[in-house]
Amino acid sequence: MKETFYITTPIYYVNDVPHIGHAYTTIACDALARWNRMLGKRVFFLTGTDEHGEKVQKTAAAKGLSPRELADQVVTNFEGLTPALTISNTGFIRTTSLRHYASVQDLFRKSLANGDIYLGDYEGWYCVPDEAYWTELQLADGNCPTCGRPVEKRKEPSYFFRLSKYQEPLLDYYRSHPSFIRPESRRNEVVAFVEGGLNDLSVSRTSLSWGIPVPEAPGHVIYVWYDALTNYITGLGYPVPTTEFGTFWPADIHMVGKDILRFHAVYWPAFLMSAGIAPPLGVFAHGWWTVEGQKMSKSLGNVIDPYEMVRKYGADAFRYFLLREVSFGLDGDFSERELIKRANSELADKLGNLLNRSLGMLGKYFAGVVPSPAPPEPADAVLANCGREVVPAVAAAMDEVALHKALGAILDLVTKGNEYVQSMQPWALAKDPSMRARLGTVLYNALEASRVAALLMAPFTPTAAQRLWEALVPGGGPVENARIDREGAWGGLAAGATLPQACIVFPKIEV
Ligand code: MSP
Repeated sequence: MKETFYITTPIYYVNDVPHIGHAYTTIACDALARWNRMLGKRVFFLTGTDEHGEKVQKTAAAKGLSPRELADQVVTNFEGLTPALTISNTGFIRTTSLRHYASVQDLFRKSLANGDIYLGDYEGWYCVPDEAYWTELQLADGNCPTCGRPVEKRKEPSYFFRLSKYQEPLLDYYRSHPSFIRPESRRNEVVAFVEGGLNDLSVSRTSLSWGIPVPEAPGHVIYVWYDALTNYITGLGYPVPTTEFGTFWPADIHMVGKDILRFHAVYWPAFLMSAGIAPPLGVFAHGWWTVEGQKMSKSLGNVIDPYEMVRKYGADAFRYFLLREVSFGLDGDFSERELIKRANSELADKLGNLLNRSLGMLGKYFAGVVPSPAPPEPADAVLANCGREVVPAVAAAMDEVALHKALGAILDLVTKGNEYVQSMQPWALAKDPSMRARLGTVLYNALEASRVAALLMAPFTPTAAQRLWEALVPGGGPVENARIDREGAWGGLAAGATLPQACIVFPKIEV
């Protein structure tokens, strides 16, 4: 097993406030980061903000602010996602930081020095009022696709990256790293795109000023994607040869939305190859959320604010819904009604109920002291097997970044636990003194299923999992310090421990 894990979110534009899309990527990365820590790996988890470019410059101008002032204001909304969504990132990068300027310029210089970056002319259709270039294909009936006004052909000097040279090296890399681009369907799209031939890429602009200057080329600023992608190495200290960089690079997973896969799976590895730096090991593209069946947009007024969701339902329920509702990688539809339904029926009625009915009976029949289990009867063995199988099932799902499958497997154990209690009828056993040992075994197993579920839920619903853990493993410390291989072994519940009578972690959400 590789002993380190480096995962990144995209860096978010500061021309807008956070919405469900940002929350989604960050939460998915957080679940993977937490899981890998519980495997015993050293984890670096980077997120941050993309603060240069035309949009930020314009939004700032419209508010009478400098771009930097705007960025300083908006960045707090993104930094605030960490506590609000219980995110465990270890780094936060802003592209306006000095260390990032040094990093981008260093990478740029390397490709300039070896001839992979050269000076040429950028030509395109220019919308004067919008100050934006468009390609022939992007035009809408020959006009600017955003404002509809006429465009004119313009030319400006620009530095180009020799992307065309990297067609074969990229295809080789995809072949030798079959899981570099996931999911599989997206990989095929990218391969087909690269096989279609690559044009050199314009990586500087003179028509823009809010960006990182091209070294020794007054008037040129570095194109925003070249700047933005480089954050992933700046975050580890590049160009300084830090221990972090040596330990964590190349990244294991760049998590991105499907719209920005090409930048990560084509441009980014080519920039790195050119500079003699290893490309990342993986890029995973997740799907997009619609809201109640509609595209999310400001004009429709249906933009989902993650802070509001947390206020209404708590971070755990929000995280749970996003990761459970759709097959990770596909698109999904967000609705508060569905969130409430799932939180109530799965978190409260299944997970919460298994623990609470078991704790309640333990209190009533055993004064809260966990009995030692007797040798298993067939029904006990069935539940124990399920408990033993769920750990590798979750591990396999997390390996393939199938977060929904991992949650499905945990829910399965919880459902089996509830069915076990239902069919063993401990309340009936309690009436027969000769069944005392059997009663103890049944409660032990029900609580043990809860314990394993609590452990496995820790990456997904960290706050609730901690409270479940405290109830089941008194004095056990933070669940995030538990190890899947150690604490995940069936039978870990300590006989003789005194547990509380109840632990309401998932109160029902009232509609
Ligand atoms: N700044 C660039 C990324 C640079 S990474 C080197 C950017 N920023 S963004 O703020 O516009 O978008 C960030 C992420 O949000 C993208 O991964 C995008 O796919 C995701 N989402 C935006 N809307 C979304 C949904 N409606 N649903 C899910 N994710 C969505 O792109």
